[in-house]
This record gives sequence, structure tokens and C-alpha cells, in this order.
Amino acid sequence: MNRLTNKRILLGVTGGIAAYKSADLVRRMQDDGADVRVVMTRSAQEFITPLTMQALSNHPVHLDLLDTETESVMGHIELARWADLVLIAPATADFIARLTAGHGDDLLTTICLAAECGVIIAPAMNQAMWAKPSTQQNTQLLKQRGVSLLEPDVGLQACGETGAGRLMDVPDIVTALASRFRTARLAGRHVVITAGPTREAIDPVRYISNHSSGKQGYALALAAIEAGARVTLISGPTNINPPDRAAVVAVQSADEMLAAVMSSIRDADIFIGVAAVADYKPVSVENQKIKKSGGSALTLDLVQNQDILKTVANLENRPFTVGFAAETENVIENARTKLTAKNLDMIIANNVADTSIGFNSDHNETTIITRTITGTTEAQQPKMSKENLSRKLIELIAEQTTET
Ligand SMILES: Cc1cc2nc3c(=O)[nH]c(=O)nc-3n(C[C@H](O)[C@H](O)[C@H](O)COP(=O)(O)O)c2cc1C
Repeated sequence: MNRLTNKRILLGVTGGIAAYKSADLVRRMQDDGADVRVVMTRSAQEFITPLTMQALSNHPVHLDLLDTETESVMGHIELARWADLVLIAPATADFIARLTAGHGDDLLTTICLAAECGVIIAPAMNQAMWAKPSTQQNTQLLKQRGVSLLEPDVGLQACGETGAGRLMDVPDIVTALASRFRTARLAGRHVVITAGPTREAIDPVRYISNHSSGKQGYALALAAIEAGARVTLISGPTNINPPDRAAVVAVQSADEMLAAVMSSIRDADIFIGVAAVADYKPVSVENQKIKKSGGSALTLDLVQNQDILKTVANLENRPFTVGFAAETENVIENARTKLTAKNLDMIIANNVADTSIGFNSDHNETTIITRTITGTTEAQQPKMSKENLSRKLIELIAEQTTET
């Protein structure tokens, strides 16, 4: 179903009888697209072997807080940072008590302390242990602090008693996890995004470029990843870190960007051209640095670069193609013309004459123009962060590309 595509789940297993179910849980989460890493308490290892969990999760299982080998690679802080969600299943009464008291006396409690993502516990224990005021109060306190609780099921227990305390059914746990994430609207889709400026070489040390920072393209890549897409980010030179779940192709010139786009576009469902691709490049690149020659002027002969957006939009099996129009005047009019001339499905017009928005800024103020059967529709957007605009655009693109 892929409801958990691109999601990183850290599964904590504690020492209860239901620990054997965590093996199935790993598989079911993976079936839904999740990348799963496992942390086990010392007691949990008495119930199920780390080897089983390692084989199922395809990753080494993390067992010790003070492990000199793993600490440098992925210590408790790195694991906490890595996770989109920490799930403790099963969670013993003792683990719940330690979590409530704020202990950091083993790897799993320390990860929970360090985690800034959500923590979910799925308790499993004898019905009397679950009903004990201490367990109930601890659980309530954790809930008040923002820990989510997957209520145990009622039924026959391993100890022979009947009551509340059985681990929630594995498929129900996976569904509960999936509902925690905003959207999986682009699950299974391949989105190709270009970002940043291009550099057109004049000689070995000089180039023509522009002020594009790459922020909008990178924010869109992250929003597409959050929505479950496989993302290829083709980027010109920038100073920002790309989202770590994107396949990044670094390029310099418009020609290199075009080549990278063409080699990844074949199975793309959506293409978003955010890069500020240079319209022109020098006719020829000098082999040696151009020297000053007296006081005379230097003339550069330029030739047009091939239009990447237009090329993609006119492919036979074209993806849904979205462009950005960075304009300094007649913004909407120019964007509308670009939409039609280049055969795009959607264009986002922004005024880059205002330096508080657009290039280099963290914000953008845009108008989204979408092609319809009868013409175009326009939706003016208020000034917002590039992250929020990206989420909105991804929602819109998902709407436009989902067959009903
Ligand atoms: C056979 C056996 C089964 C147990 N089953 C559970 C259980 O289902 N739930 C629970 O909360 N504790 C159970 N316990 C007690 C825990 O193993 C014990 O509290 C342990 O310290 C928990 O450690 P951990 O929370 O660090 O994994 C069981 C103990 C034994 C010996």
C-alpha cells in the first residue's frame, strides 16, 4: 500500500512475551514502504534474537548505549535524529515506568529522551499489570506529555488470563503509524526537480550565473519526499544541504542540467523545473583566462541554451510538467505566455524584482497558473515560507495528477 514510503521508523522492542510479534511488525512496516531500524533492550533479547531482527530489518540491530563501535557510526543521538517516528512495540510496564521517570539508563530510553520526532508506545502485558494504578498513571502522564498510546487489545493472554493487555494487532499498529503522517499522495511516483542557478563558463575562471539560491527547489524536493515520492533533484551550485532522501545530481551548466534531466525523465511522473537556467551561454569557452587588453571593451558572443522545460513538456510521453516564471515586470502576463508557449501544465509566477521574496529569500509570493480544458485558472498566493508554498504546490500537483 506504501502508506509509509520514505518514512523512517525506529522500532524499540522491550522484554515481553509479545516481542515475537515485533518480527512480523518489521515486515508489515516494510511492506508499507518504511525503512525500519531496530533497537532492543537487554530483556527483549531473551525473548527474540537480535539476529532475527537484523535479518528482517536488513540493518544491524542496536543494543547498547555504550558501544564504541556503533557510537561513532550511529549513536543514540544519530538514531533519534534519523527517525521520523519512534515506536516501542511491545512496551513493557517496566519500560513505561522508566520512560515516565525520564530515565536514560539504556539505549532505548536515551533515544526516547533525545528524540524530537513523535514517540508511540504499544504496551503489552498481563491484564493485572496493565490495570495497576502505577501503570495507568504512568501511561496517562506520558500521554499528557505528547507520547501517543496504542491501547492494548482485550482478549486471551499468554498467561492464560483474559482481559486488556494484549499487544494491538500488527496491521492496526501499521495503520495507526500511517495516519500519523500528513500525506502519502505521491506514494510510488517519481518526481524530477531542477533547482538552483546554472553557471555558463566564459574561461577557466569566470562564468555567467544568477542569484538563484536553490531554496525553493530544495523545499519542493522535501515536500515531495514527505508526500511519499521518489525524488531526483538535479541541482546547480548552491550553498544549502539537499534533503537526504533525494537522489541528487550535481551539475554546473545548462547543458549538463539538460543531460541529467533527459537521463532521469524516462520514468518520471512529474517534472518541476525550478532551476534558474541561464538563457544564454558564451558561443565558445576560452581555454585560457582572458587577459585585459589595454582600455578596450570586451565583447562576449552568446548563444541560447536549449530550453529544458520546453524540451520535457514536448516529449512524447511527457510527465506532468511544472515551471517557475521569475519575472521582474508584467509577471502574470509573461507567465501565462510562457505556460502556453512551452506547453506546460502549471506555472508558478513570482516577482523577483522585490528582494524580500523570490531569489535568495526564505519567502515567496506567487500566483499559480494551471492549464484547464478551457484555458487557464489563476490562484494568487499570499506571501509565505518556501516550505509552506512547497507543501501547497505538492498537494495541488497531486490533485491534478491523481486519476479519479
Ligand atoms: C517470561 C516472562 C514474560 C514477561 N512478559 C512481560 C510482558 O508481557 N509485559 C511486561 O510488561 N513485562 C513482562 N515481563 C517482565 C519484563 O521482562 C521485565 O519487567 C523486564 O525488566 C523488562 O525489561 P525492559 O523493559 O528493559 O525490556 C516478563 C518476564 C518474564 C520472565
